[in-house]
Amino acid sequence: MLENRTPDLAAFWMPFTANRQFKANPRLLASAKDMYYTASDGHQVLDGTAGLWCVNAGHCRDKITKAVQTKVAELDFAPTFQMGHPEAFELASRLAALMPGPLNHVFFTNSGSESVDTALKIALAYHRLRGDGARTRLIGRERGYHGVGFGGLSVGGIANNRKHFGPLLPGVDHLPHTHNLDHNAFTKGEPAWGAHLADELERIVTLHDASTIAAVIVEPMAGSTGVLIPPQGYLQRLRAICDKYGILLIFDEVICGFGRLGTPFGVNYFGVQPDLVTTAKGLTNGTIPMGAVFATDAVHDAFMTGPDGAIEFLHGYTYSGHPVATAAALATLDVYAEEGLLTRGAELAPYFEDAVHSLRGLPHVIDIRNIGLVAGIELQSRPGAIGARAYEAFVKCFEAGLLIRTTGDIIALSPPLIIEKHHIDTLIGQLADILKTLV
Ligand SMILES: Cc1ncc(COP(=O)(O)O)c(C=O)c1O
Repeated sequence: MLENRTPDLAAFWMPFTANRQFKANPRLLASAKDMYYTASDGHQVLDGTAGLWCVNAGHCRDKITKAVQTKVAELDFAPTFQMGHPEAFELASRLAALMPGPLNHVFFTNSGSESVDTALKIALAYHRLRGDGARTRLIGRERGYHGVGFGGLSVGGIANNRKHFGPLLPGVDHLPHTHNLDHNAFTKGEPAWGAHLADELERIVTLHDASTIAAVIVEPMAGSTGVLIPPQGYLQRLRAICDKYGILLIFDEVICGFGRLGTPFGVNYFGVQPDLVTTAKGLTNGTIPMGAVFATDAVHDAFMTGPDGAIEFLHGYTYSGHPVATAAALATLDVYAEEGLLTRGAELAPYFEDAVHSLRGLPHVIDIRNIGLVAGIELQSRPGAIGARAYEAFVKCFEAGLLIRTTGDIIALSPPLIIEKHHIDTLIGQLADILKTLV
């Protein structure tokens, strides 16, 4: 029998965590099933965040668990450098079939951060291979989150994530973010105001000249920074300006991908066709780390030149297309297809929207925004203590049996796509009760 003991917390240097605060009052999870975690003290916690935006089909789904168990006993590891195993090819084909348009080629990674750095490298190498090697500049966006690799940090736009790590990549510029409460507070879905902010790309082109710019990377819906939904027409405008100047457009769909918006990908939702798409998280339902970068035929084919036997793209990870991750992803795609999860969000979105917007008028709530099965609830910050109010809500929610995510003073909700209406009622009802207690 397992000993009921509190582990020594000292050695694990925890990621994106206030370590000392956490270790003084830890929150430990012991198991999970479907919509719920069970904490190590035995209390049930309704998952309002799909883990970390990744458990889209709900927790510990039998089909995925079994696929992983079987594969790890059958083929624990297989190199994909100058070798292969059949299921990695099958997975790439299935993913390409799921993604609209000519995004028919898939490069495997192990995380969102690796997907982003891979996509940036593809963009740079693409231009060079076409004889356009002066295109080295990368354009991100303020408040963007593209993971923690040096490439992703460089194009990312969250100052606190960047400030400790030196000058980062040279030759990077940023579009302005699209968040504006004066114009867009309490908007349901895509805000009407703000498409013109895409025209800032024209200004950046004027400043640097198009011939120096390789790619623009944006999250179609920016999640980690606090749920920023693109203004109507904004992404279309970015696409048009990129086309005008021969700049590649990269969608970072690490959060938007795999049904979060009520469509398989943000590409479907917004009807905008990028040149590269980065994914991870929902690809394996969070079970085993894996990411995937999608490239168009045009981008991919630019690499398939040169002498036979030459490695076309000198990039990859030991675990690219890992057999166990591949098995998890294939089973995840089965579950998504069998249960219609990649579009289920669209059916539930109106109910979710009404529920979330019912929080309007509660103390400190200065904005509510939503799209698909994602919502952001922004609280007024306490003077001189940004994030303290939302953190208090997070702790109280966890103790009351609800997992929410906070960034600064924004609460983000992104439940598993198997959520039922009664879970939404519980989620929003409990959150409302807790918001009322905040000072
Ligand atoms: C849009 C986006 N890109 C990249 C990442 C980084 O992913 P990972 O933490 O798997 O490296 C995240 C993580 O939240 C993300 O939201």
